[in-house]
Amino acid sequence: MVGTLADRFAGERGALLPLLHAIQAEVGWVPDAAIPLVARALNLSRAEVHGVVTFYHDFRREPAGRHIVKLCLAEACKARGVGAIETALSDRLGLPIDETSEDGRVSFEAVYCLGLCATGPNALVNDKPVSRLDAHKIDRIVAQVSA
Ligand code: FES
Repeated sequence: MVGTLADRFAGERGALLPLLHAIQAEVGWVPDAAIPLVARALNLSRAEVHGVVTFYHDFRREPAGRHIVKLCLAEACKARGVGAIETALSDRLGLPIDETSEDGRVSFEAVYCLGLCATGPNALVNDKPVSRLDAHKIDRIVAQVSA
């Protein structure tokens, strides 16, 4: 599958990010095994590809959980108390931020601004925004990702 995608982008200038996004969209993450295939297809070094994959926070290096909770840790949400929300969510989910539960049920991840600064603290839960996070909304998030 990764090889087919790499072949599709082979030799195209500026194709590294589009190809990595295509791999992540298709596979759900960017496996280490994809790096030499991408490098060969785009005539880049493995180090160049690895550098881009590890630089951009959006590229997953391992499979995500079935549920994904992304918590905004950027300045406006910090000013609105996301620190306490992070602690509470981390306790309730049993996970530090940027980890996936061992059972693959949930990933808890940091993001840096969702463009919803006026209604912070904010999260995305399975790609749906949840704003003005408080204890009640944390209860709802935990229930939602428990299934
Ligand atoms: S800082 Fe959190 S949404 Fe902008």
